[in-house]
Amino acid sequence: MTMPAPATGARSHLFNDRTLPAYRAAVAAGVDRVARRVATAGPFSGITPDRLGPEIAAVDLDRPLGETGAALDELEQVYLRDAVYFHHPRYLAHLNCPVVIPALLGEAVLSAVNSSLDTWDQSAGGTLIERRLIDWTAGRIGLGPDADGVFTSGGSQSNFQALLLAREQALAATALPRHQALPRLRVLTSQAGHFSVQKSAKMLGLAPDAVIAVETDRDRRMRPAVLARELERCRRAGLPVMAVVATAGTTDFGSIDPLPEIADACARAGARLHVDAAYGCGLLVSRTRRHLLAGIERADSVTVDFHKSFFQPVSSSALLVRDRSVLRHATHHADYLNPARAAEQRIPNQVDKSVQTTRRFDALKLWLTLRVMGADAVGELFDQVVDRAAEAYALLAADPRFEVVTRSQLSTVVFRHLPPVGTDPADADEANLYARRALAASGEAVVAGTKVDGRHYLKFTLLNPETTAADVAHVLDLVAGHAEQYLSDQAAAAELCRAAG
Ligand SMILES: Cc1ncc(COP(=O)(O)O)c(C=O)c1O
Repeated sequence: MTMPAPATGARSHLFNDRTLPAYRAAVAAGVDRVARRVATAGPFSGITPDRLGPEIAAVDLDRPLGETGAALDELEQVYLRDAVYFHHPRYLAHLNCPVVIPALLGEAVLSAVNSSLDTWDQSAGGTLIERRLIDWTAGRIGLGPDADGVFTSGGSQSNFQALLLAREQALAATALPRHQALPRLRVLTSQAGHFSVQKSAKMLGLAPDAVIAVETDRDRRMRPAVLARELERCRRAGLPVMAVVATAGTTDFGSIDPLPEIADACARAGARLHVDAAYGCGLLVSRTRRHLLAGIERADSVTVDFHKSFFQPVSSSALLVRDRSVLRHATHHADYLNPARAAEQRIPNQVDKSVQTTRRFDALKLWLTLRVMGADAVGELFDQVVDRAAEAYALLAADPRFEVVTRSQLSTVVFRHLPPVGTDPADADEANLYARRALAASGEAVVAGTKVDGRHYLKFTLLNPETTAADVAHVLDLVAGHAEQYLSDQAAAAELCRAAG
């Protein structure tokens, strides 16, 4: 066997059989930098855009450094030093999970091989692996023998595609011409549903008032009786409901809509049911909480986000459908790529089912996760964060410094610092906003915020099994400290004003 001649010049940067030593060295150097940073990093440095912006602006993109080590040194300054680290036990903010090592391995492999999952002739085994994982997920949901689906870039895209399919199904079912039917279509989702439903409706050309927010109960779960009333109201008004979107794990409250009752209401009204399980899909692999998703198997389509509750790196999501034939609404045969004859020859071209063309082999990360650690281990990790949220809720409920909103079925906790009785509600809002900012700026912890009934609240999204109850208690002390500091500074400033007359 003859050794290939080493590449020189610009070609030395191409990944191929002639550059394998450079590939190994560069990736190992990058992995080493990340590992060294992770060994000491907090959840966030607290940097502001004003401070970091000039450093990034000062990089002359037209003057390459020419060398990996120098580029990595620079990367430390412009990115790694101040990145937000989701692996850290005191990162408690958004729906970002720490990631598992088999998935990181998958990420390294998939980007090097660089398969594109639009067609069989750009991916081969990648296509079949994605299909196996779609079947596996559909099986876990219980969607039946005609199910299918496709990986997507995230929950927003999965919801968008679900509503695209629903719109086309609804338009095909109405006697009205398309342009007359489109503004009449309605989508029903709960008040706590994800904003991607509204955004999708807009992108799909629906009317501005097409999305109807169905009232939720005290636990922020859709009220099935109100849904039934809204379905009936739409029927009487001649407004076709193209989909009911139930949420299995609302973003703020971790609430799971009552899926069996919602499925009943949809069945009675002949409405299509989409379940947004972007967050709650982790329960599909829980050995103790799978029952919380009961009823999901009656959905017409389901969104799952492996990059939320399967400990996968961004991005990794999928849309599943009960009846594979509806995916035809996303099909377009292009002569150069996926001609109709390829479908006739049963060549598996995933682009026939996707709104994307070139598409990452994100499925590989889940594949390696299941092959190395297995579904039960993923479910175990998710169960641990749900347990931790219950502990956090109990801590908050027992702490007079705080008010806590609802007990999540998943792993969020929405709460606020309670100021002394008589404090102006606007000051209480500001104290909570300040506490969140000050906490992030201190680099000690990161928490999220949201509004409940018009007032500012704070939020933990607990997705890290390494977060302990002691971490939660410590962060609560920090939050209370910052909020109290704000209120006492305000009181002192008011006192000064009064004294000055
Ligand atoms: C319930 C729910 N659906 C959809 C999404 C959107 O997912 P993505 O951010 O992956 O687009 C989110 C994101 O937080 C979510 O919580």
